[in-house]
Amino acid sequence: MRAIAKAQPNIALIKYWGKRDSGRNLPAVGSISITLAELFTEMSVKLDESLDSDQLIVNGNADERLLPRVQRCLDDVLGNRRKAARVVSQSNFPIAAGLASSASAFSALVVASAAAGGQNRTTAELASLAGQASGSAARSLYEGFVELENCDDHISVKSIRPVDEWPLSVVIAITTTSAKAISSGDAMEISRQTSPFYSRWVEQQSVDLNAARSAIAARDFEQLALIAEHNCLKMHSVMWASRPPIIYWNTATLDCMQVVRELRSQGVAVFFTIDAGPQLKAVCLPEDESRVQDALAATAGVCNTMISGLGAGATLVASE
Ligand code: PMV
Repeated sequence: MRAIAKAQPNIALIKYWGKRDSGRNLPAVGSISITLAELFTEMSVKLDESLDSDQLIVNGNADERLLPRVQRCLDDVLGNRRKAARVVSQSNFPIAAGLASSASAFSALVVASAAAGGQNRTTAELASLAGQASGSAARSLYEGFVELENCDDHISVKSIRPVDEWPLSVVIAITTTSAKAISSGDAMEISRQTSPFYSRWVEQQSVDLNAARSAIAARDFEQLALIAEHNCLKMHSVMWASRPPIIYWNTATLDCMQVVRELRSQGVAVFFTIDAGPQLKAVCLPEDESRVQDALAATAGVCNTMISGLGAGATLVASE
């Protein structure tokens, strides 16, 4: 059985940083994200008993480093008595560089592997399986503005506003195409164990979630901008105060932040957010996307820019 699924990365406006149960990969905090439209990972899963072992091809090359994580996810979906799988993943954007490639990859993987195994799972089940592999991947099952709630012993994910009700644009400034030095999973564990700010971060998250939820419900761009930048900088402060410190930014990241702040002081509706990598994501109204892109593309150290609208959740493309 073979199935192909496609999923888009999502960008958190209110961030997930830290696990409450690392065995089950349950987050310590809830989060709110936007699912992108133009960036995607297409994932093909073929279950084949003639194969000696699982195979993983990422963007045309065999990937032994990522294989164990993919195998764990396949076991979670299909059980560990499953047939061997050939998994082929293709993304149209840099991977492992803070562009949420694990979110699009693992959400596409659960959809494709469940279909290849002949399973008919609900989106909630698929989200929970994706979340076991990568916390942020659970959100890529859903469209538009998405909230992940942290319940007692599980996560609950839902779309809180569809794309057509508040179309926004995201301009991504790529400041390096190198893979990051430390994975978000390892880094958040260091923060939990060593950052003096970690417990306050967890305690305050519900305040930020409430503010973002209200801003999204009211389509209040200014309020969303304030709370999203605050939450992003707070997450990075937790990282900076960790031991060893976790610093994902480079000088171009800081220059891009300054450019976004200047644009805002000139009246452009735009704000930034930054994840576990040096890329800056500028969220703006669609009519301003060219102006924001031109300003970021002209910033020293920016090697490329990409624009995306908001899009749909992971989908099954084919199954045979
Ligand atoms: O899902 P992970 O393990 O790649 O962690 C994602 C962490 C951030 O991107 C920094 C924040 C988030 O909520 O996506």
